Amino acid sequence: MPVDYARRALDYDAVRADDATDRGFWLRGLVEVGSIQPGERVLDLGAGTGRFASLLHASNPVVALDSSREMLAIAHAKAPLACVRADGHRLPLRADAIDVTVIVMVLQHLHNYELVLREVARVSHRVVIATTDLFTRTTGIIEEAFPSLMEIDRIRFPRTEALVAALERSGFGNIRTEERAYVRKLTVTQQLDRVRRKYLSTFDLLPPGEFDEGVRFLERELPRRFGDRFEMKSSFTFLGGTR
Ligand SMILES: C[S@@+](CC[C@H](N)C(=O)[O-])C[C@H]1O[C@@H](n2cnc3c(N)ncnc32)[C@H](O)[C@@H]1O
Repeated sequence: MPVDYARRALDYDAVRADDATDRGFWLRGLVEVGSIQPGERVLDLGAGTGRFASLLHASNPVVALDSSREMLAIAHAKAPLACVRADGHRLPLRADAIDVTVIVMVLQHLHNYELVLREVARVSHRVVIATTDLFTRTTGIIEEAFPSLMEIDRIRFPRTEALVAALERSGFGNIRTEERAYVRKLTVTQQLDRVRRKYLSTFDLLPPGEFDEGVRFLERELPRRFGDRFEMKSSFTFLGGTR
């Protein structure tokens, strides 16, 4: 079942984005692992609300591409980006139009991510991907609260080895993989609010009743175990490749 981003667009940044983390963790990872240089032509595939496209726009010409009109409307309001509504499986771009394509937390939504990578290899010289491999990462109290979450996400998110192999088959070489530690400090109230507003798209895919039950568990257990401060410690995988 696809996740409906039309419904999420207005709330998306409030629930997920955080300027310090967006710049200091995500953008930094993309620039470093993707070796993105000022002036290079960037495609942000699955750009969503333009969190990273709008930051990169300060130094690079950026095409923000997404299948959701509602998400792109938010991106466009942030910066005069070239916004393109399209499906990543069929990129409306000519061969070699792009220097580097960035893909942040999108693969889990794609019917056929390898097909998308082949399209990326057609239009772009390099690629940098930020994703997560849920066979090597745990989500702590969140997976206690929502017992089906990991099982669902282990199917949705590709494993790192599979992704490296798919990048190679798509024509990318010199593949670099970096697991980067992620720490975000929140109050328990903020974390509960993020959960209630479904900061993970997987919350929409849980079996009936599991989301509400999990929220009740967290309302009880987060303050009991963490007091007022909740530190989210995790890691995400960055992969870079060159054609
Ligand atoms: C989790 S959001 C990530 C947005 C952005 N990259 C970020 O990190 O904030 C996933 C995005 O992928 C988009 N998406 C899903 N399937 C797509 C497809 N086939 N082609 C293009 N975009 C797609 C969704 O509309 C959504 O905006």
